Amino acid sequence: SNGPAAYSEQVIEHVKNPRNIGEMENPDGVGRVGNPVCGDVMELYIRVKDGIITDASFKTFGCGAAIATSSMVTEMVKGKTIEEALEISNKAVAEALGGLPPVKMHCSVLAEEALRKAIENYYERRGEKPPFEPTPS
Ligand code: FES
Ligand code: FES
Repeated sequence: SNGPAAYSEQVIEHVKNPRNIGEMENPDGVGRVGNPVCGDVMELYIRVKDGIITDASFKTFGCGAAIATSSMVTEMVKGKTIEEALEISNKAVAEALGGLPPVKMHCSVLAEEALRKAIENYYERRGEKPPFEPTPS
């Protein structure tokens, strides 16, 4: 059964077959985040051309929900402008995966934070100020 405590089929599919996994060579931005709840970590890499995120990949040491949300967020950002990418919430990522068990929602926060940090890092590398409040690291 697929009760509230179970992973959706989409989550299981992304865990078995993660998209865009691995470190990126010469990325334009890197976001590293740790989950204070479990100590799991995620790195997200982006490539940006003319304000569009043309590629994204990730490395995650974490649970199934962390891997599935990383995989999904890298798929979701590709082709988006930076402004559009900043609108992607952990809830939207979880919804795209057919939902997450409530106890696993905090895992999806990693994906949202890693993306935001990667975008911050993209501005840093260009010597520009990000058009939003930097997150405390
Ligand atoms: Fe432990 Fe997500 S951090 S279940
Ligand atoms: Fe740590 Fe899910 S248990 S991110």
